[in-house]
Amino acid sequence: MNLLLKHLKLQLLDNLKLRKAKFNDSSLLLEWANDADMRNNSFHSKLINKDDHIKWFKKKLTESNDTSIYILELSETPIGQIRFERIKNGCLIDFFITKGERGKGYGKNIILMGVEKIINKWKNIDFISAEVKKDNTPSKKVFIDLNFTETSYPDRYLYTLKV
Ligand SMILES: CC(C)(COP(=O)(O)OP(=O)(O)OC[C@H]1O[C@@H](n2cnc3c(N)ncnc32)[C@H](O)[C@@H]1OP(=O)(O)O)[C@@H](O)C(=O)NCCC(=O)NCCS
Repeated sequence: MNLLLKHLKLQLLDNLKLRKAKFNDSSLLLEWANDADMRNNSFHSKLINKDDHIKWFKKKLTESNDTSIYILELSETPIGQIRFERIKNGCLIDFFITKGERGKGYGKNIILMGVEKIINKWKNIDFISAEVKKDNTPSKKVFIDLNFTETSYPDRYLYTLKV
């Protein structure tokens, strides 16, 4: 990962910490999941109801070895989340930065910090990918700037990093 950072001439921003999500983060994660841009940029655009979210989140935290969720904190304040879901020999990314903090580089930072954590945790993955809607310019920019490889499909881009 240091090599990747060096190659990209990117430096991690100050005062950032990426930590595991815990059950107390449940309402914050629901609020972020139902953020208008998040729903609009997601492939399932319906609002998520609280009971379904709690059931889903509990299960992910307690039973699932195939999901890892992390919270990005800026000076101890949560500003975003990244989730990795295992698929076959790789994993898929979903990520979010709270509205007031977008466009400041935190999106790229959360991917870099998250990728570093996940390749240390899941030693046997061969790739990390993200599916991005064609009109989601900020997300596309993040993955292109981080040198993920782009594949274009009629309704989405797939960005992939081989690890
Ligand atoms: C996608 C998302 C996480 C990016 O987070 P972010 O903190 O804004 O990301 P960054 O600041 O690191 O990078 C975004 C880049 O897009 C650029 N950008 C943002 N809006 C843009 C626009 N409309 N046109 C062109 N570039 C744009 C920013 O300037 C920045 O580029 P720069 O670093 O060269 O200035 C954030 O926009 C978000 O949470 N969106 C809603 C949820 C979502 O879409 N998640 C991704 C699902 S695949």
